[in-house]
Amino acid sequence: MADPATQLSQWDFRRFARSDLTPMLQQYVEVKAQHPHCLLLYRMGDFYETFLADAEIVSRELEIVLTGRQAGDKIGRIPMAGIPHHALERYCAQLIEKGYAVVICDQVESPEQAKERARQAKVARRSKSDGDAPLLPLLLEDGEQIDWEGAESVLVRRAVTRVLTPGTVLEDQLLVGRRNNYLAALVQAGECWGLAFADISTGEFQVTQLESAEALVQELLRLQPAEVLLSGDAPDPLVLLRPGEASSERPECLPSQFCYTLRPRRYFELDEARRLLMETFGVRSLEGFGCENLPLAVRAAGGLVQHLLETQRGVSIPLEGIRTYTLSQYLILDHQTRRNLELTQTVRDGAQYGSLLWALDRTRTVMGGRALRRWLLQPLLDTRAIGRRQDSVAELYDEGLLRERLQRILESVYDLERLAGRCGSGTANARDLVALGESLLKLPALAEAVAASTSPYLKALQSIPVELERLGEKLRRTLVDTPPLILTEGGLIRAGVHPELEGMRGQLIEDRDWLVDLEARERARTGIQTLKVGFNKAFGYYLSISRGKAEKAPPEYLRKQTLTNEERYITPELKERETRILNAQQQTNQLEYDIFNILRQEAGRHVSALRQVARRVAALDALAGLAEVAVYHDYCRPVLGEGREVHIEAGRHPVIEQAIPAGFFVPNDARMGAEAEPDLIILTGPNMSGKSSFIRQVALIQLLAQVGAFVPARGAVLGVADRIFTRVGAVDDLATGQSTFMVEMTETANILNHATPRSLVLLDEIGRGTATFDGLAIAWAVAEYLASHIRCRTIFATHYHELNELASVVSGVANYQVTVQELADRIVFLHRVTPGGADRSYGIEVGRLAGLPPSVVARARTVLAQVEQHSQIAVGLRDSNGSASESAAG
Ligand SMILES: Nc1ncnc2c1ncn2[C@@H]1O[C@H](COP(=O)(O)OP(=O)(O)OP(=O)(O)O)[C@@H](O)[C@H]1O
Ligand SMILES: [Mg+2]
Repeated sequence: MADPATQLSQWDFRRFARSDLTPMLQQYVEVKAQHPHCLLLYRMGDFYETFLADAEIVSRELEIVLTGRQAGDKIGRIPMAGIPHHALERYCAQLIEKGYAVVICDQVESPEQAKERARQAKVARRSKSDGDAPLLPLLLEDGEQIDWEGAESVLVRRAVTRVLTPGTVLEDQLLVGRRNNYLAALVQAGECWGLAFADISTGEFQVTQLESAEALVQELLRLQPAEVLLSGDAPDPLVLLRPGEASSERPECLPSQFCYTLRPRRYFELDEARRLLMETFGVRSLEGFGCENLPLAVRAAGGLVQHLLETQRGVSIPLEGIRTYTLSQYLILDHQTRRNLELTQTVRDGAQYGSLLWALDRTRTVMGGRALRRWLLQPLLDTRAIGRRQDSVAELYDEGLLRERLQRILESVYDLERLAGRCGSGTANARDLVALGESLLKLPALAEAVAASTSPYLKALQSIPVELERLGEKLRRTLVDTPPLILTEGGLIRAGVHPELEGMRGQLIEDRDWLVDLEARERARTGIQTLKVGFNKAFGYYLSISRGKAEKAPPEYLRKQTLTNEERYITPELKERETRILNAQQQTNQLEYDIFNILRQEAGRHVSALRQVARRVAALDALAGLAEVAVYHDYCRPVLGEGREVHIEAGRHPVIEQAIPAGFFVPNDARMGAEAEPDLIILTGPNMSGKSSFIRQVALIQLLAQVGAFVPARGAVLGVADRIFTRVGAVDDLATGQSTFMVEMTETANILNHATPRSLVLLDEIGRGTATFDGLAIAWAVAEYLASHIRCRTIFATHYHELNELASVVSGVANYQVTVQELADRIVFLHRVTPGGADRSYGIEVGRLAGLPPSVVARARTVLAQVEQHSQIAVGLRDSNGSASESAAG
């Protein structure tokens, strides 16, 4: 077997004998050994330094200079790269974004404290050994030696203060406001999986069990977790696989685009997981959470909480209880469908601009934005739940003034959800508390505005817990308007709120005034007009007299420093005041910090109530935004029922409509699924006529209806769908390493295997990615199977005009076309969907519009005339109809 040491990179810390390293690097390596897979940021003075392999990574990823440092006589120079301490959060954000985990090791005592510690150790030892110990140089850091009586070799103490992994960050700067940051944990047992996920910044914690790897992957793709925990037997704890990294530790079925952290198997054992969860949430059984009988879910949840315990370092775990859910509670959208429908980002460039979320997001708060995003990705099935949202949108739609009033208030509400989380975990800073206070003080106005409201989501805000109002008042009363970010340097607490603090501040002012007046007093007393009071770092306050007048200095002046043309003195009185000022300053700072801490703890005790209100406010914000869009773009309230119909009158595509000039979008009807109406529509029409737009528009209207939103149509009656599938032929998916056509067929197979009569299936040019006749044959067979076997509602957009023949072969199939007007020299796109099949694609016409050279266009016309032959396909299939439907049924 290969020597493991040889597999380590050149600068892996494990390659070096500790004894060869300088004392400071020994300390560094000790910490590193406990977190081998994290980047270790090691505080030295004003910098966080990285060494060895970490330094190479950090300098590459952050584009900062790679320098070097002596590591000991034997080893010589090793790589080093440092970031200034004040830029820590910004750089950490970049590293986390790239999928690294970061450990922060801080100095937990000052160099002075280290010196003092060493001195005392020395004294203690000396009293034991009768004072013969040799004098040693004081070694503060590598290379820095100070001769000092009784000195001892000593290093500043350091400790790990934070472990940041992509899924466990709480800091505002490391989070995206309008998106949840999920940490997921997985447990596998045969085909089945347990999934737990949490957003520790908002307290959301959910678990479920899934029956196949495929379903699991779909959930992961919906959640887009920042980090996924897996149990593994890897020798190192906390192995981190960055996105795209190859590893045999990750089961093959899991997508490589996420960041995975391997955790020891024992963290996922049932008994341990159950014990930990009950302890964390202070309950005696998991029954109340609904997961008592879901062992895989419980194990995943346990592993997740265990990971939090380890990374959060004394910060309490800010999770609300566990919510158990099943996939069947929601409209199922697979990843391809979410992608094709461009729910949160466009296919072309991944931007939010141009997506459904972009068209609908009029939220005023980031938590409202997060809620809307979650809703769009997880529409509902329960008509009552949908109705509750619709009722609220309707009220906000009808009551325009109320909506505007609410939205104005919401504009000045901060991210209550995450602020609550940071109070709960004790990581909030003073600005967080000010923002929390300001937001809480807006709540009474919200409550007043909705006092007469009748719809569920508005009524939920009619009463605000009085303790939250009081908390808001207290925060505003206590904290200054814009406190500093640093909590230990004073300036946090308003004047007049704390008697003891007032007394100390009064004394401080008095002492400072004494100093200010000193100059005038001493000038008068000594008669030296050039006398000044100054301050420097080396010896604090001093009195300065110009050289010429120096002999007039009074005897109690003690000379401290002689410069070319001035003498500097101190007096015992001056020093006494100075000490008093410095001490008092420290004490007031400490007292302010203490007051702040008590306040933060008090806020932390309200975390549940805060979160509940935050969720209600977020939902109201999302609904008000939906109502606003509905008003400005003339949406209607869809009627949802248990039937199967899709009846859309004058429907529009919500995104295209907003992207083109007002009034230019041509509305279209859709009718299918009911008695005497088709289940399957074959949609033909020229290129550029609007086929793809139409089928997406139908899908989006169905989806929006199940979100509880109003829809872009004059009227809509829709049966609740259990799944929406959309497939677009021939999209390249290079990332998965599959060919275009293979992807297309895999996805089509997935639909045929999963669609039910309640599903809505939108197919866009399936079969396009292969030879014409193969493609046509597959398209035909797929359409036939959907119409005669599954009987789901389907719209199939295609250029295979031969598919129009299907209507005469299979019942429940109808042909529609998107029309164009043919003028003498060009065609006009009418974008109107009408019954009947198109027989021409005008593809050459589109090529001409796109700027193909005229000779090519002319030649193409000639070729077309030659190859255009009437297809005999339908005739043949009509003859073999019996056998076709037999095989479909089998
Ligand atoms: N109902 C409509 N009203 C106004 N413009 C529309 C409408 N439908 C589509 N369009 C415009 O026409 C363009 C082309 O539409 P779309 O991509 O849906 O055509 P298509 O029939 O699928 O074409 P192809 O066969 O080439 O895929 C869209 O980008 C859109 O701007
Ligand atoms: Mg198209």
